[in-house]
Amino acid sequence: MENVIEARGIYKAYTLANTEVPILRGIDLSVGKGEIVALMGPSGSGKSTLLGILGGLDLPTSGRILIDGIDITKLPENKLAEIRGKKIGFVFQAYNLVPTLTAIENINLPSYFVKGNKKDPSELIEIVGLGHRKNNKPSEMSGGEQQRVAIARALINNPKILFGDEPTGNLDSKTETKILNLFQRLRNEFGTTIFLVTHSDEVAKIADRIIYIRDGKIREVSTHGSHL
Ligand SMILES: Nc1ncnc2c1ncn2[C@@H]1O[C@H](COP(=O)(O)OP(=O)(O)OP(=O)(O)O)[C@@H](O)[C@H]1O
Ligand SMILES: [Mg+2]
Repeated sequence: MENVIEARGIYKAYTLANTEVPILRGIDLSVGKGEIVALMGPSGSGKSTLLGILGGLDLPTSGRILIDGIDITKLPENKLAEIRGKKIGFVFQAYNLVPTLTAIENINLPSYFVKGNKKDPSELIEIVGLGHRKNNKPSEMSGGEQQRVAIARALINNPKILFGDEPTGNLDSKTETKILNLFQRLRNEFGTTIFLVTHSDEVAKIADRIIYIRDGKIREVSTHGSHL
């Protein structure tokens, strides 16, 4: 299987009050094209930190990350931004919507920075069930609605890899099921690779592989069927 993500020896430390605090302590992982991976672990274990590094939003202290065979830790910022824009969709834990833009404008925003193959924002807003919220700003939407805008925005440029940081954490179970079905459809139809941080067993159920992280290290990996 072709690997779209390869991480080798990822180490990340933050310096707080002149003391180095290690957050990720030697992470190695490979993710294949079209694979759905769930990353689980306690609060503070380094899940969001790892996701940000794999998605090229943050740099590791040391280690290498290959996205489609390209080492993104060595790229100048403009090249990295190009790869992020073209290949990667990111649903943030705190959504990070632009407060002054409407739902549809937020969804369409990443398409201005990338040339080529894009989805229709009106179609995406319907897919996430928010056709009636098109012209609302984030402050006029519920948490779950904002989360679905963030999901639609992550899909606008047809990403090869979708990273989601608890992307269904604010949804009721019926809406969560719809979004999980959407993720499975993307994988089946387009071979999208999907990497999700989650605390939810429902999300873990659609994963081909569950990676458990604790204290910045991978503790356990289970393939579908051998867990829950
Ligand atoms: N910019 C930063 N500076 C210093 N410490 C940080 C920074 N970002 C994260 N940390 C620390 O790194 C650790 C891991 O944080 P991270 O956000 O990756 O956890 P998480 O597994 O995503 O937790 P949660 O499930 O609560 O979202 C935490 O102890 C956090 O305080
Ligand atoms: Mg987190």
